[in-house]
Amino acid sequence: MTIQQIPYHPYTPPADSETAARAFYEIVNQRRTIRAFSDKPVPREVIEQVLLAAGTAPSGAHKQPWRFIAVSNAELKHKIRMAAEEVEREFYEKRASDRWLEDLEVFGTSPDKSYMDTVPWLIIVMALRTTDDGGQVYYLNESVGIATGMLLTAAHHAGLATLTHTPSPMNFLREVLDRPEHERPYMVIPMGYPADHCTVPDLQRKSLDEIALFKD
Ligand SMILES: Cc1cc2nc3c(=O)[nH]c(=O)nc-3n(C[C@H](O)[C@H](O)[C@H](O)COP(=O)(O)O)c2cc1C
Repeated sequence: MTIQQIPYHPYTPPADSETAARAFYEIVNQRRTIRAFSDKPVPREVIEQVLLAAGTAPSGAHKQPWRFIAVSNAELKHKIRMAAEEVEREFYEKRASDRWLEDLEVFGTSPDKSYMDTVPWLIIVMALRTTDDGGQVYYLNESVGIATGMLLTAAHHAGLATLTHTPSPMNFLREVLDRPEHERPYMVIPMGYPADHCTVPDLQRKSLDEIALFKD
């Protein structure tokens, strides 16, 4: 397949690059994972724009191996909650190691996923193991991971809060959502506004020195 080359139109930030980079860092540094949501509605149009932003992610050979399933239907959210709670109970009671449970203590997580009923949207990210017509995809996990990161960032930028939720195993999602075999459930992302008086653990992020090395 031949694809024509077209001129590239670079994005020009409204300020110089350093100012723009600082301003963006200030915004994304405010993102936090929350675990208590308000039932305040979020219009579908907002979610559509956030998903479009996620869909701009780069992907191996531009296969775009993702599908975002946006659920606001109360009955379906409840079904997902029930199934998620079942696997989470199994995780907390049987499968998680003592060390894992200890590492999770600070977050106050538990098998209770009642926020899934409250939050206006659940975005289920599916990783496509093949294209919809059975074709090869490349760097699936990397591609979907980048798109998911962009999804979280776009939601945050729109003033929405998210939770990156990974019930394990996640296969029940394909069944509940009636999705085809080549869609592998990747993540569940409740998306909405925080509940009144929502709190988050006082975590510290690594410093630049810890996360980066410069070889000038
Ligand atoms: C791959 C991944 C899986 C996660 N799974 C869960 C989860 O199942 N439940 C949960 O409450 N938080 C989950 N989190 C959220 C992390 O606990 C959270 O991102 C981390 O504590 C840092 O906090 P912050 O997002 O507020 O910076 C997950 C995050 C990632 C990236």
